[in-house]
This record gives sequence, C-alpha cells and structure tokens, in this order.
Amino acid sequence: MRSPILLALAASSALAVQVTTVFNFTSAIDIENSELRTNGHLLLTTFEKGQLYTLDLNAADPQAELVAALPGATALCGITTIAEDKYAVIGGVRGSYHYYNETIYTVDFSKDATNPVILKAARLPDAIMLNGMAALPKLPHVVLAGDARRGLIFRIDTTTGAYKVAFEDELLNAPSNASIPIGVNGLKVVGNNVYFTNSARNIYAKIPISDDAETFGDVQIINTLDSTTDDFDDFIVDSNGVAYVSQPTNKIAQIQPDGSRKVYVGGDGSKISSPTSVQIASDGYAYMTSGGGSVVKFKLPPGTTLASGEV
Ligand SMILES: *[C@@H]1O[C@H](CO)[C@@H](O)[C@H](O)[C@H]1NC(C)=O
Ligand SMILES: *[C@@H]1O[C@H](CO)[C@@H](O)[C@H](O)[C@H]1NC(C)=O
Ligand SMILES: *[C@@H]1O[C@H](CO)[C@@H](O)[C@H](O)[C@H]1NC(C)=O
Repeated sequence: MRSPILLALAASSALAVQVTTVFNFTSAIDIENSELRTNGHLLLTTFEKGQLYTLDLNAADPQAELVAALPGATALCGITTIAEDKYAVIGGVRGSYHYYNETIYTVDFSKDATNPVILKAARLPDAIMLNGMAALPKLPHVVLAGDARRGLIFRIDTTTGAYKVAFEDELLNAPSNASIPIGVNGLKVVGNNVYFTNSARNIYAKIPISDDAETFGDVQIINTLDSTTDDFDDFIVDSNGVAYVSQPTNKIAQIQPDGSRKVYVGGDGSKISSPTSVQIASDGYAYMTSGGGSVVKFKLPPGTTLASGEV
C-alpha cells in the first residue's frame, strides 16, 4: 500500500513537465521560428544576419549548423514545408516594427540534404511585417502568410511568385493604441481552418477556408488572454486540435478546441524562457525555440501527434 506522502509526491511530480535543453547558441541569437525535417533535423530561423540553421535532434550532442544566410535578408521569420524536404522561409530587412524587402525564399534540400537550392520565390514590396506562414495541405506550394502590421493574410504561390491579399480583418491587426503594434503572429493551416494568434489583441482564433484558400469565412475566437503584460506568440496544433501556444512570460499554454486553456509548461519563470515557437515531433516530445537562443524539449501527453493537415 502506498503512503499518503508518496501519493502526494506522485501527484505533484505528475504535474511538473520536465524540460531538457537540447542546444544553446553560445551567444544570444534570437531564434524566431522552426520546422521539423523528415530526417529528424529542426530548421531554425533567426534574427541573426538572415541565418538559417539545421539542428540534428538525433545526434548525441546536437549542434546547430549554418545552412545559409538568405541573400538580402537580415532577419528570418515564418517557415513551412512546401514539398518533401523543401521549405518556404520569410526573410526581410528588419527595421523598427517594419521590414523592408519582404521576400519568400524557397530552401530545397530534396536533391542535396546539406547544400540546398535557395531561391527568391516571391517579393512582397507592400508587406510590412510578415510573421507566421503555413502551406495549404491540399496545395502545399501555396502558402498563407500573416502581416502583423497590415492586419491581413497574403496568399502566395511559391512556384510562380504571384501573391495577393487573401483576407483582411480587424482581428488580424493591432489596435491603434496597442503598446506593441504586432497583430497576427503565429499562423497554421489544419484541414479547412487557418489558426492564428494576434499578439496585440491577445487572441487565439481560427478562420474557415476553402482547400485553395480563395474563400475565407468569419474569424472565430477560441481563447482570449486577459492580461496587459502577456500575449500569445507562435504555436502548434496536434491531431486532436489541441494547441500549444508560446507566451512571452515563459509559459506554454495548452488550449483545447473548446477554448479552455491551462499552463502546460513554465509559469514560474525558471523552467523555460522566451518561447518563440513549438514543434511536435514523432518521439512524443515538443521542441521549443527561444528568443534567447536555445532549443528545449518537453514531453507531450501520451499519443500526441502532429495534426495531419500540417505539412
Ligand atoms: C544553456 O544555457 C542555459 C542558460 O545559460 C544553461 O542553464 C544550460 O545549462 C545550457 N545548456 C546547455 C546544454 O548548454
Ligand atoms: C532592398 O533591396 C534593394 C535591391 O536589392 C537594395 O538596393 C536595398 O538597399 C534594400 N533595402 C534595404 C532597406 O536594405
Ligand atoms: C485601447 O482602446 C480600447 C478601446 O477604447 C481599450 O479597451 C483598451 O484598454 C486600450 N488599450 C490600451 C493598451 O490602451
């Protein structure tokens, strides 16, 4: 028979999700976003001279290796898979809440796993701050990218370079009195919904879309964070529609499809710091990047897998 003390210990340790550091840059490099590769590497976009890194998560001592500095960019943001080991990456010249020369690059490792073919797939001179980006599950060479300053979603064909404003809504912008003018931040497409966070409005929401993202429905808010000192950053959605959302106050929130939210990791300021993006790997772990330059991992609930709509 177990004593009450052991039961209490078991209960408290069940609540604490263990966090393990996978890799640290030795200097403070802002990692902004990430994407898993089929070979078990994690691609890292950074604010450091437009540099893209790849991190072998299966190595005994994973070390980020520079893939390339994307030409003409000083900072990289959203990244998404558009074909087998081929990615679209947002890059631009970073100013103060304004990027110049916003570009969608393609980074194609399919013929050479270490030396990818890098192209400028589309230039968006009228974009101001592209942030999250996701490929359409049924048309993966087409991506949606949110503009956090203009409050809209661009639809970009990475094959032709053609792009247009696909959807515009107040719930994608930052209110004019926002202290930090960043609206739509993270963006993912799962099935026939585009999910997004809006940092200034503290919301996590979804919009129904057609397969080709030519038609958008109305924005449906799933959860609102009632705080003036916190917000939602990038996130990932699992196969049950459960989201793991970065919060700058050193937390990862878990949001159920019905909108209920709880802190999954962090919250005491010590376990994780400055989360910027989260990925769900097939080993049962989430991999989280930080603005401080580290990648950490923590266990997800048993059976958690990436939503199949996400590529
Ligand atoms: C990464 O850096 C943090 C903070 O500087 C430190 O606590 C941790 O031990 C480092 N981990 C690795 C694997 O270098
Ligand atoms: C944008 O690109 C053009 C052409 O390559 C270059 O001349 C210009 O300096 C760039 N703008 C910024 C702000 O770097
Ligand atoms: C901005 O204005 C709205 C509406 O008047 C108000 O509810 C909100 O508190 C204001 N936010 C800030 C950061 O001042």
